[in-house]
Amino acid sequence: MPEILEEQRESWGTRGGFILAAVGSAVGLGNLWGFPYKLYNYGGGAFLIPYIVAIFCIGIPLLILEFSLGHMTQRAAPEAFRRVNKRTEFVGWWGIILGFVIITYYPVILAYCFSFMFYSIEGIIKGTPLPWAGEGIEGVNNAKHFFYDQYLGYTDDYSFGSIRFNILAMLIITWIAMYFCIFKGVNLVGKIVWLTVPLPWLMLIILTLRGLTLPGSTKGLIYYLEPVWSELAKPTTWRFAFGQVFFSLSLAFGVMVTYASFLHRKSDINNNAAIIGLADFATSFIAGLAIFSTLGAMAHISQQTQNPIPVEKVVSGGPGLAFVAFPYALAQLPGAAWWSFVFFFTLATLGIDSAFSITESVLAGVVDKTGWKRSRVLPAMSFVGLLLGIFYIGKGGLNWLGTIDGFINGTWGIAFLGLLECVVLGWAYKIDHLRKHANERSDWQIGRWWNWAIKLFIPVILGTLFFWSLHDDFSAEGGFLRQADGGWNIPNCVGIGIVAIAPIIALTMSFIKTVYRDQHHRSTIFDGKTDLTYGTKAGFTSFSLALMSMAILIIIAAKLEPSFNYYWHLIAFAFVLAVSSLIIGNFTLKNRHKTSCCWFARFAGITSTLNISAALALILIYFTGKSQNLAKHPIKSEHLSGTSYIILSIVFALIIFGLGWCFYRATTDVSKNETSARRN
Ligand code: PHE
Repeated sequence: MPEILEEQRESWGTRGGFILAAVGSAVGLGNLWGFPYKLYNYGGGAFLIPYIVAIFCIGIPLLILEFSLGHMTQRAAPEAFRRVNKRTEFVGWWGIILGFVIITYYPVILAYCFSFMFYSIEGIIKGTPLPWAGEGIEGVNNAKHFFYDQYLGYTDDYSFGSIRFNILAMLIITWIAMYFCIFKGVNLVGKIVWLTVPLPWLMLIILTLRGLTLPGSTKGLIYYLEPVWSELAKPTTWRFAFGQVFFSLSLAFGVMVTYASFLHRKSDINNNAAIIGLADFATSFIAGLAIFSTLGAMAHISQQTQNPIPVEKVVSGGPGLAFVAFPYALAQLPGAAWWSFVFFFTLATLGIDSAFSITESVLAGVVDKTGWKRSRVLPAMSFVGLLLGIFYIGKGGLNWLGTIDGFINGTWGIAFLGLLECVVLGWAYKIDHLRKHANERSDWQIGRWWNWAIKLFIPVILGTLFFWSLHDDFSAEGGFLRQADGGWNIPNCVGIGIVAIAPIIALTMSFIKTVYRDQHHRSTIFDGKTDLTYGTKAGFTSFSLALMSMAILIIIAAKLEPSFNYYWHLIAFAFVLAVSSLIIGNFTLKNRHKTSCCWFARFAGITSTLNISAALALILIYFTGKSQNLAKHPIKSEHLSGTSYIILSIVFALIIFGLGWCFYRATTDVSKNETSARRN
């Protein structure tokens, strides 16, 4: 295959170094404050079904895609995309630019963690009570008051006010720490992660064991694990499960492509992806046990006071959980300062490798494109990241952070980018090349089903989520970009501005000439120009069908509200058109032995995949209504039910046997792996 490079760029020292770095990127704040809360909110133990389906159907296949792309091209995302098809470089840049936006705010949250860690150390040394400590409902208010008023100087608007120098100092420390982790290149990162990944794991296990052994912990676990099966019938549950997997595995921002580009030429791909997916899941699940058992113990203690605080009074996701509810709960227990230190240290070490993984992916993107020196780009980038971070430490900074994060990690950023990545690689490139590339060096092989997962199954799911959330966003009360009183909703306008500018910058970047190119490389897709007309007629037909179905869907979307029954037939018709164009288009592509083929067929594939997802989204929108109410947990008993124990055992069995099997394949297939790698 012409596109495989013979050269070896700088690499991770060991296989373990790479796995830990990728796990470090995946395991972050999302595991600790995203997963447990979503599980609690969307069906308790029942949520695990869509979540596990999402890991196996989307998470691991997409990890394999990103790893094989990075590994095959040995370049960061933009250049990697350019090498499979020079017109798709912008997809890589798009992810990198949104990744850059993430590194303006992710370190701000880490700065909070460092501050709270220092408050805990102060508590340990001086033996004074923690500044957020307090009892009963007053204690909860005190914890809120401490975080929002005293620490953040928060006002519930989007004003800036004055800079909080205490946070700024921590932000500077965070950036300096990140700088020193990555300034020497991935070889050093591969060593640092031996500290930043196992250490928070160890802390999490300690926190979990302590939580589970406290009186009253079962109360919390009931909230966490008791399944509410009816939630499974709500598509929203599925939507959140898929979204969480995507974010948690750091997909779509080019991070995993970049990390894999530093892999050794002979390195495994499939097994690594499975190990990383399962390790991320294990961390999320165990973090949930730690959090809910501690909240349960807190509720138990508060029962003895005049103002009992049940778990549902304090439980929340995001910063509210990490900086209010959990610190409050810890402050109720013996050894509060020590345990708070352990918690914030865990949070900081969990987050820092996620933060520097994104920095690395932006850095590698720029370095691969411009040929500039890493030692010059990194300080400049860190400085700009730091300056932009100041934006989030004003009075309304947390609101800005939430809004912008919502855009990047929601529909407009992550779902759309993932969709684009799949359709571009699935249809504009011969995806089987990537599959073979991965299989040739992996401990176990993936079948042809994977091609269809990338071409159709995953993009249809992501597309459905995309169109569906789009509908929800725009039908939000008072409008999305306008406020109820008719004025502009400035934060949403800024958010949408960022996500709209990203593709424009991405396209511009892709037009700039890449300075550093190696001689071996040829752009594969335009090889053999004479073949380009092959299957034009069939391709043209399928593309026309795809466009027709798209037109029908747009008309239905515009008119959906009054009567669905009538439009139902049209949706079915559009669906049939989309599927037919998909079949004809794929048939045209299939006849080719080379990667080049009629462009119509490629576009037909992309368009009809989008159409199928739009049709599904319309159906879901109709059946679910506009707004979703969060589930209420019916807590009936004092004890965990048999079902919860079964769920616990299944999850642990899945994690232990899954990881065990992966490690077994990794150790037994070494010899085979070497032979197959030599074939390349
Ligand atoms: N996966 C990280 C988390 O769970 C966040 C992240 C997203 C990191 C995207 C890198 C890229 O917190």
